[in-house]
Amino acid sequence: MKIKNICCIGAGYVGGPTMAVIAQQCPDINVVVVDINEARIAAWNDADLNNLPIFEPGLDAIVKEARNRNLFFSTDVEKAITNAEMIFISVNTPTKTYGKGKGMAADLKYIELCARQIAKVAKQDKIIVEKSTLPVRTASAIKSILDNSGNKASFQILSNPEFLAEGTAVQDLLHPDRVLIGGDTSPEGEKAIQALVDVYAQWVPKNRILTTNVWSSELSKLTANAFLAQRVSSINAMSEICEKTGADVNEVAKAIGMDTRIGPKFLKASVGFGGSCFQKDILNLVYIAKSYGLDEVANYWEQVVLMNNHQKQRFSDHIVKTLYNTVSGKKITLLGWAFKKDTNDTRESAAIQVADNLLSEQAHVVVYDPKVASERIYADLEYLNTRLPEQNRQLLTVEKDPYKACKNAHAIAVLTEWDEFTTYNWQAIFDAMEKPAFVFDGRGILNQQEMEDIGFIYYKIGSQR
Ligand code: NAD
Ligand code: UGA
Repeated sequence: MKIKNICCIGAGYVGGPTMAVIAQQCPDINVVVVDINEARIAAWNDADLNNLPIFEPGLDAIVKEARNRNLFFSTDVEKAITNAEMIFISVNTPTKTYGKGKGMAADLKYIELCARQIAKVAKQDKIIVEKSTLPVRTASAIKSILDNSGNKASFQILSNPEFLAEGTAVQDLLHPDRVLIGGDTSPEGEKAIQALVDVYAQWVPKNRILTTNVWSSELSKLTANAFLAQRVSSINAMSEICEKTGADVNEVAKAIGMDTRIGPKFLKASVGFGGSCFQKDILNLVYIAKSYGLDEVANYWEQVVLMNNHQKQRFSDHIVKTLYNTVSGKKITLLGWAFKKDTNDTRESAAIQVADNLLSEQAHVVVYDPKVASERIYADLEYLNTRLPEQNRQLLTVEKDPYKACKNAHAIAVLTEWDEFTTYNWQAIFDAMEKPAFVFDGRGILNQQEMEDIGFIYYKIGSQR
C-alpha cells in the first residue's frame, strides 16, 4: 500500500517539524497538519518565516520549500482525517494534574479525543500512528475506541515514537539514529508497518528503520528518555561530590566517557535537566511500574527526578549562601530561561525553579534570554502559583539587552548554555556590576581563568575553585 495522503493531529514541537521534514523528503505525499489551536496554525501559515510558532535551526528553510506545495497547516481536522490514509497523532500528553495518578501518570484525554474524532469521521480504512509519547499498552485503548465506532472502516495502530531533541530537531529528523515502528504481528499489521517503513525509507537508510511489536515500541520510548535523563542525574550527582573533593566534573566526565562502553554524550553536568519530556516520561514510567506492583523498579527511576529537583534547589541555595545568606533586594541576573540552547521552549526549565526560589528570598531577579518572550516567562512563574502574578511582575523584570540586564547586578547566574553568552565582553559587564561581582555558571560554559582574571568570584557547577 502506497501512502499518498498523511494527516497529523497536533502542530506542536513534534508534529510541526516532523511533518515538515516528511513533506520535504517525500514530495509525492500530501501532508496536512491540523490543530485546534487557531493561533498556532495561523503562525505556521505566516508569510514571515520568523513568526513560525517554533524556533528550530533550519526549520524555516524546510517549511519554505514544502509549504503550500505538499505541506499544509489547517484547523479543519475532520476534512484532513477524511482525506488521509495515514493519521499521525502528535498531541500533547502532559502529566495528569487531577484525579487518580495526579502528578505522575500521563494525561491521555487529548489522545482519546483524537481517537474518538477519528472514529466519528473515518469511513474508510486508516492506519493510525502514535507519534506522541504514550504509556505502554495505549494502542489497545485507541484500538478499542476505533473498533467500536459503529462504521465499517478498519484500523491498524502503529507506534512510531519520536526521538528528536529540541534545538537539533531538523538534523535529528533528517539523520535519525533509528526510526522505530511497532505494529501488530498479523498480516494486516505487517502491511501497515511496511507502508510506514516505505515513507521513511525515502530518506532514512533501511538498516536504521527498526520494526518491533507495538508494546516494545511504546516502552522503548519511555526507556530511552529514562536512560538519557538518568545519565544527566548521575553526572549531576557526581558534580556535588566534585565540589566537595576538588575533583572537576568535566574531567571526570571526559575520563569516563572515553570508555566506549559508557560513551561521551549526555554527561554534561548542569543546573538540572528540563524540557517537556524527561520528567513527565519518567514519572509516567514510575506510575506504570507502581501500577504493576513493581515498587523497587518505581523507586529506582523516581530517584532520577528527585536528584534533578535537588540539583536545582542546591544551585539556588548556593547563590543565597554565597551572597552572605541574603539576596533580599539584591539584583540577580539570570542569563537564559529556555531549558536548553537553540530553542524557545521553556517547559520544565531549571530557570523557572531557580527564579522562583530566589524570588521567595525577595531578590530582584532580572532575566535575559535571546529567544524567550517576557510573557512566557511570567506565565511560567504564574503556573507555579507561589505568589500573586502582580508580585512576580514587581520582583522580576525581563530585559532585551544582556548588558543592561547585568548592569548593577550583584550576581549573574548562567542557566542556559546559549553560545552568545561566551562571546560577551565580560570585562565591561564586570565594570558595571556591584562588587564583589559573582558569576554562578550553571552550565559550565565560561572560561574560569578568564573570569577570575577579570575579577569575578566565579562558581562553576561541579568544580571546587
Ligand atoms: P505541543 O504541546 O507542542 O503540541 C501538541 C499540539 O496538539 C498542541 O498544539 C495542541 O493544541 C494540539 N492538540 C491537542 N489536542 C488536540 C486535538 N484533539 N485536536 C487537534 N489538536 C490537538 O506538544 P509536543 O512537544 O509537540 O509533544 C507532543 C507529543 O510528542 C508528546 O507526547 C511528547 O511527549 C512527545 N514528544 C515530544 C518531543 C519534544 O521534543 N517536544 C520529542 C519527542 C516526543
Ligand atoms: C529529549 C531527548 O534527548 C529526545 O531524544 C527525546 O525525543 C525528547 O527528550 C522527548 O521525548 O521530548 P529534549 O528534551 O528536547 O530531548 O532535549 P535534550 O537535549 O535531551 O535535553 C534535555 C535536558 O537535559 C536539557 O535541559 C539539557 O540542558 C539537559 N542536559 C542534556 C544536561 O543537563 N546535560 C547533558 O549532558 C544533556
